[in-house]
Amino acid sequence: MYPEKIMKDNDCVAFLKWALPQMNMRWPGFRKVRRQTCKRIERRLRELGLSDVAEYRSCLEEKQDEWEVLDTLCRITISRFYRDRGVFQALGRDVLPELAQKAEQEGSRFLRCLCAGCASGEEPYTLALLWKFVAAGKSPEMDIRVIATDSDRTMLERAARACYQPSSLKELPDRWQKEAFDKVDGRFCLRPEFRAMTEFCRQDIRQSMPDGPFQLILCRNLVFTYYDSALQKRILERLSEKLDNGGALIIGIHEELPEQTEAFVPWRSNLKIYRKQIRR
Ligand SMILES: C[S@@+](CC[C@H](N)C(=O)[O-])C[C@H]1O[C@@H](n2cnc3c(N)ncnc32)[C@H](O)[C@@H]1O
Repeated sequence: MYPEKIMKDNDCVAFLKWALPQMNMRWPGFRKVRRQTCKRIERRLRELGLSDVAEYRSCLEEKQDEWEVLDTLCRITISRFYRDRGVFQALGRDVLPELAQKAEQEGSRFLRCLCAGCASGEEPYTLALLWKFVAAGKSPEMDIRVIATDSDRTMLERAARACYQPSSLKELPDRWQKEAFDKVDGRFCLRPEFRAMTEFCRQDIRQSMPDGPFQLILCRNLVFTYYDSALQKRILERLSEKLDNGGALIIGIHEELPEQTEAFVPWRSNLKIYRKQIRR
């Protein structure tokens, strides 16, 4: 038996419309995926012994610390391998080879990539697979290093285990599935040689980022979906500082860069791939 719901969908929507702007987040980003957050808020009401969301609102008005809890409840953690395959196809065919060639000409042996908001590793590991199966052959002297960050400890623990349900891999080419994963108890576990290229690090992107410079940054389905425009601009500035001139920034396929972003020019605009281009 499921306990009776104490919060209807429209109560949750009204609550989110009130609370999100106070955390520099935006309601339109949550509209389609609110179920995950609403379920967690419902669970939180039960934990606190509250009978409705109005009581939770009063609780937030009284206790500053509860905003930090709510912030964690608002982390949308949906991801999968090879998400938006057209983006990864262009990345493997054009972007990675060009970036690797440029880095090699500049005397580097590594292409340094940042994957911000990496969930359970699906996106950084896709990058590693793409390098091995598509791009590495074009720059045999080069290798890739991926630093992947997320603020959610549970996601990072899953990323370290690197074992996934079949549904997470359904968009990956068959050959990659067969050659890069071992099937263990019905799950697909990424082989160590593909895991070795990626390092995970727990960071809140609003507060810190790994040391650069990077030649490629993926920041998809986080900042430009869930945060308000002032916070988007602030984070984009920091990302831009971490990216080499000529480097690539990739945002989510349904996302937009804030207006008047002059440092980035479209590389493949339909795929939301941009090149940092500062004229000196
Ligand atoms: C919707 S998932 C996107 C995953 C992946 N980038 C993709 O596009 O498939 C967003 C991820 O960002 C993480 N996240 C949320 N807020 C964050 C923050 N302030 N700093 C770093 N990561 C955050 C969540 O834990 C979640 O794993």
